[in-house]
Amino acid sequence: MKIAILGSGRGSNAEAILEAQQAGQLGNARVVAIFCDIPGARILELGPRFGISALQPDPGPFKTKFPPEVETRWVEAIHATGADFLVLAGFMRVIKKPLLTAFTNRIINLHPSLLPSFPGLDGIGQAWRYGVKVSGCTVHYVNDTVDGGAIIDQAVVRREDTDTLETFAGKIHAAEHKLLPKVIRQLSKKEA
Ligand code: GAR
Repeated sequence: MKIAILGSGRGSNAEAILEAQQAGQLGNARVVAIFCDIPGARILELGPRFGISALQPDPGPFKTKFPPEVETRWVEAIHATGADFLVLAGFMRVIKKPLLTAFTNRIINLHPSLLPSFPGLDGIGQAWRYGVKVSGCTVHYVNDTVDGGAIIDQAVVRREDTDTLETFAGKIHAAEHKLLPKVIRQLSKKEA
């Protein structure tokens, strides 16, 4: 399983995946490239650090979607790295037909809530403001509905009375850093 990680920001989940790989904990999966849609995003720094290519192809004029011809160029760029599986780790752009048909059933996404609750932007803030006592994170297959594909696995985080939004978010991120490498390892073993 040759993975391209797609991200837009900090890259802490990409880092967790690459650290799991270094520790021999990623099963039969191997990260071959990082793709980012935001110039200068921190996730790009992981490329040189882990010795893999980190690419930032032009995403086109919109913030949250690709024009179809631009998305087709991303497919070509991803294919050129040899990747056959995509992991969306903080990729803040909706993907559509060109990527979905090029990687059918081979794209997974991480979301910081227990889906189907709180899809879309700021899942942690949405859950916090709603006042839930339990939230967490979800890894799911990507289809053409936002945060709507089949759930693969979830991790639960409790909101304690002593939590602030920051500590609550920190617990969810810590859960994400364990869940995503675990799911990749398990999926890679099914393929072997
Ligand atoms: C993560 O919390 C991830 O769940 C979220 O973005 C963050 C990326 O952090 N993704 C979404 O909200 C997607 N809808 P990172 O860049 O440090 O990995």
